[in-house]
Order: sequence, then C-alpha cells, then structure tokens
Amino acid sequence: MLEVQIKNVKFKNPILTAAGTFGKGLELKGSFDLTRLGGIIPKTITLHPRTGNPFPRLKETPCGLINSIGLENNGLETFLTRTYPLLKALPTEVIASISGETIQEYVQVLKALVDNTDIKVFEINLSCPNVEKGGEEFSQDTAIMSELLRRLRKVTDRLLWAKLPPDVYRIKALVRVVKESGFDGVVLCNTYKATYIDVDKMQFSLAKGYGGLSGPAILPITLYMVTEVKREFLDFPVIASGGVFSEEDVLRYILAGAHLVEVGTMNFVKLSEVFTLEDGVKNYLLKKGVTLDELRGWIINGRKRS
Ligand SMILES: Cc1cc2nc3c(=O)[nH]c(=O)nc-3n(C[C@H](O)[C@H](O)[C@H](O)COP(=O)(O)O)c2cc1C
Repeated sequence: MLEVQIKNVKFKNPILTAAGTFGKGLELKGSFDLTRLGGIIPKTITLHPRTGNPFPRLKETPCGLINSIGLENNGLETFLTRTYPLLKALPTEVIASISGETIQEYVQVLKALVDNTDIKVFEINLSCPNVEKGGEEFSQDTAIMSELLRRLRKVTDRLLWAKLPPDVYRIKALVRVVKESGFDGVVLCNTYKATYIDVDKMQFSLAKGYGGLSGPAILPITLYMVTEVKREFLDFPVIASGGVFSEEDVLRYILAGAHLVEVGTMNFVKLSEVFTLEDGVKNYLLKKGVTLDELRGWIINGRKRS
C-alpha cells in the first residue's frame, strides 16, 4: 500500500531518516523497529575522516535548529570496514550520503562504495566547499556541478540523487542540471544558511559564526520549491527534506509531488515519532480513499475531489 518504486529500487514506505540526524544508522537498531522506515541515510561519508567545526556548533532558535557540524565523520575506510558490515544487516534500505572537497574525491568515494558494497542508492550531498574553487559550494557554478554529476553518473547505474542546497530563485535551473546529468532524482533541500547572536556574550552563537537552519521554520519554503520543481519536471522524482515534524507534514510533501520524504531535526526532538509516520500516511489514504500514487502530486496535477 505504501510502497514507492524509483527505477529498480522499491522502498517499503516513503519515510526516510535524513543524513546527519540518525547517527551512523546503527545506534537504534535494538530499540526501535526499523522495518517501519522506507530507508535510513547515515551521516555523510567523505574520503578522509573529518573532525568537523569547533564547538559550539548547534544553536536552537524559536522555530528551528542551526548547525555547523561540518560533516564530521570517520571517513570512507572506517565506513567500509567497520560500519557497513553492521549496516547491511539492518531490515531497511540503507542510502549512502557522500560528499567531497574536489570532484575527484566524490568520484573516489562513490567508486569505492559501488565496488565494495551492495548499497543501491546514493545521495550526493552538494553542500560541501569546493577547495579547487576557493571554497564555494559545488552548486554555485552550474558548469562545475554538471561536470561533477556527469562524472558520478559514469561510475554506476545504481540510483543516484543529488541533494541541493536551498536556492529559491535558482532551484529550477539547478534541478535541470541534475536531470540532464542523468540522475534518478533530486533531494530538496539541505539546510538554509543562517546565523544567531548571543546578546549577553555579544558574539555569534556558533563558533563558526553561521550554520544551516533546519526544522519547522523551513518547511513552507522547501515545500514551495518542491511545488515549483514538480510543476516544471512532473515526472522527475523529488525526495523532500525540510521541517517535517508530523504525519501531516509528510502528506504535504506527497501532495506537492514528492516520492519520498526525509525526516531530520524531528529525530532530535521526538525520536520515536518517525516510526509512527507510516501508520499516519496509511490511515490518511484509507480515510480519503486514494492510493499513494494518486495522492502524489495531487496539488500539482490539479486533481479535485468529486
Ligand atoms: C545536526 C544536523 C546534521 C546534519 N548533517 C547532515 C549531513 O551530514 N549531510 C547532509 O546531507 N545533511 C545533513 N543535515 C541536513 C539534514 O539531512 C536535512 O536535510 C535538513 O536538516 C532539513 O531537514 P529537517 O528540517 O527535517 O532537519 C544535517 C542536519 C542537522 C540538523
């Protein structure tokens, strides 16, 4: 009833946990029923281990969380030798999020994962500074982004998604690049550049000075981008990520056209709830008397209940 198929991969339901908000993916295996998730996306993997940014690197604001974790992770080698052997036994789809500071690094990480694992889906996290271009993000220059995605596409036929940073004004142009590079879907979106100031200390709340905003504050903006993208690219799979805090939020993204929905910051606030979203979506479909396929993009397709 809730199954979602993208290319040759079947997800049990549309609920995924977002990268960086569900640890390595292993921490909860004894405590919760992971079969209730369509998939999990462990922390982004980079070629070399990263210690991340200095502390403080998390700041809660009235309706969202700002983080400047800086892609802290143990690197590719540790993922392959220590984490993956445990992850592959989990009863849910494991999606690998990867990133790099150069095109070559992205290619190397993807190739190693394709050669040494059975992972079927890869999420390419484009929110990483490109050291060869003075630290600007890969999506800033669409020619570079296109080159990166095309090089990655040549590595494998397995499912590839590009996770874009939010950019309301350029989003359709960016998705066009993703689509034309032969990718199988786009993840909308990562966190929003944001800052906060501690009035008492008279300084920034985060050591880095800024970070990425996630949580309820961003849902309406990401939802807007999902609708805009789906209007233009009706058949191109969108995976939504931004501010989901309830089953209604999941439904909002599906009504807007998303195939799958990632849950992030909510996992820090009310962790057990992500395992109940499946039931929420199921009950809604029964109540409305529609299938998931009919519901997807209802708003965009202009369907009206008779
Ligand atoms: C603490 C924290 C760490 C994150 N780490 C990553 C990461 O490693 N890779 C990535 O692609 N996104 C990362 N994200 C972004 C989330 O995956 C998600 O796209 C974003 O937070 C928006 O969704 P949300 O509002 O449901 O959290 C992180 C978010 C948070 C809050």
